[in-house]
Amino acid sequence: MEYNKQRIVLVVVYLMMLMWSCCYSQAQLRSDFYSESCPSLFPAVRQVVQRAVAKEPRMAASLLRLFFHDCFVNGCDGSILLDDTSSFVGEKTAGPNNNSVRGFEVIDRIKSRVERLCPGVVSCADIVAITARDSVLLLGGPKWSVKLGRRDSTKANFKAANSGVIPPPSSTLKNLINRFRAQGLSTRDMVALSGAHTIGQARCVTFRNRIYNQSNIDLSFALSRRRICPAASGSGDNNAAVLDPRSPGRFDLSYYKQLIKQRGLLTSDQVLFNGGSTDSLVVAYSRSLYAFYSDFVRAMIRMGDIRPLTGSNGQIRHNCRRPN
Ligand code: HEM
Ligand SMILES: *[C@@H]1O[C@H](CO)[C@@H](O)[C@H](O)[C@H]1NC(C)=O
Ligand SMILES: *[C@@H]1O[C@H](CO)[C@@H](O)[C@H](O)[C@H]1NC(C)=O
Repeated sequence: MEYNKQRIVLVVVYLMMLMWSCCYSQAQLRSDFYSESCPSLFPAVRQVVQRAVAKEPRMAASLLRLFFHDCFVNGCDGSILLDDTSSFVGEKTAGPNNNSVRGFEVIDRIKSRVERLCPGVVSCADIVAITARDSVLLLGGPKWSVKLGRRDSTKANFKAANSGVIPPPSSTLKNLINRFRAQGLSTRDMVALSGAHTIGQARCVTFRNRIYNQSNIDLSFALSRRRICPAASGSGDNNAAVLDPRSPGRFDLSYYKQLIKQRGLLTSDQVLFNGGSTDSLVVAYSRSLYAFYSDFVRAMIRMGDIRPLTGSNGQIRHNCRRPN
């Protein structure tokens, strides 16, 4: 009897280990995933990104953001790139993306080039990850080795993209912390990743409430932004302002310095330095490029690890805009 019980316990433990290894363990992405199957992948991607950013510097910011919005919705699976089909609505028109996420044409250009070099080998999800890395580097930011081996989803998830998993710009600090924790990212990761707002732009509709209604804002900064963004909702909604007023085209630590001066453009920026638990991190990043870069790089790699499709899951899409 005792013996049987022990056997049952052993079998159950064994089955649980099998299930763990099949479905729950962190899939292993590696930086040399394509070194044999597509050796010229990195220079091919870099060249297209370089051209696009030379033509329009903001594109670097847009490509970096694309990676974030891909990873937070069902993991880094290229789902954000899918157009609507007859069987699903894509993520492109979900609240956080509609009229704001950009860079799809650049991804298309890279994909068709990579398909010519190594047909059917490199996923769209990995192209987005490499592109984000190259974009940061091109604007003077840190370089890191991107982990690869993600596969592409066959479906998009409009509902998830609209559900608040991507936190809104009106977020409280608590909401930001919770939303990142739900993805396995720490508060430190969140503050470092927010440093991405050292480049790029935001539309009036995302910061109107802050510049007209909040008191933790530098007055001359608020006044200058009000000239870009009229108070009446519906007027000038798409007018854009830079997220880092000091050096919007350089991947530096000036975003954090501006937060200390109460010149965060979004509510979700300023809450990082507003008397709460993350003030000390903002101060640390504002003083040390090394501290910011090393935490940013670690957090980007961790964000790239969010629920990838690997092995025989998903597919390698031929066209990033639709499933095969
Ligand atoms: C912490 C939570 C975050 C919130 C609430 C947030 C919100 C926003 C908003 C509202 C915009 C402007 C979008 C528009 O105009 O419609 C924006 C732009 C941007 N975000 Fe974030 N973001 C967050 C985190 C991140 C992260 C983690 C990254 C990347 C690592 C990122 C990268 C960017 C970039 C580069 C832009 C400028 C894009 C461009 O100019 O095209 N953001 N963000
Ligand atoms: C996306 O934006 C367009 C243009 O402003 C608008 O007509 C459309 O209704 C929006 N889509 C969704 C799903 O909200
Ligand atoms: C300012 O806040 C008030 C009260 O919440 C709101 O009715 C108004 O629309 C806000 N103004 C702007 C420009 O967001």
